[in-house]
Amino acid sequence: MSDCKIITLPKILDKRGNLSFIEQLNHVPFVIKRIYWIYDVPGGEGRGGHAYKENQEFIVALSGSFDVIIDDGKEKEVVTLNRSYYGLYVPKGFWREINNFSTNSLALILSSTEYDKYDYIYDYNEFKLSNL
Ligand code: TYD
Repeated sequence: MSDCKIITLPKILDKRGNLSFIEQLNHVPFVIKRIYWIYDVPGGEGRGGHAYKENQEFIVALSGSFDVIIDDGKEKEVVTLNRSYYGLYVPKGFWREINNFSTNSLALILSSTEYDKYDYIYDYNEFKLSNL
């Protein structure tokens, strides 16, 4: 889907254990203002049915796996994340949901804005209308 993309991160292979990293404006196309993570998700639960007016995100499965459903108001795409050395860049203006979390999965999310409840669109019809 246009603009949403998988970004592969550096991976330093080492027999002592591998290492990956993220630099703002280098591996993600924005300044990182906020980092949050989603964990201890009960089986069958889903997160994040909403869009952001301004916030951009980069979502990484640090552990386990889950599906990110992205929707531009016209098409939907399901992206499975299951490795810690790549993530999904989601620009502003996409509806997104995260579900199908595996046991003990850990979703790391880098955000381009600080938390702002007024940046959210929680109503799918409003989102569709705003994208016409
Ligand atoms: P929300 O973004 O709706 O979660 P998700 O998209 O994962 O379903 O946020 C859930 C609650 O957590 C909501 O009350 C706002 C709060 N919250 C913060 O206070 N700061 C944050 O950075 C985030 C992401 C959420």
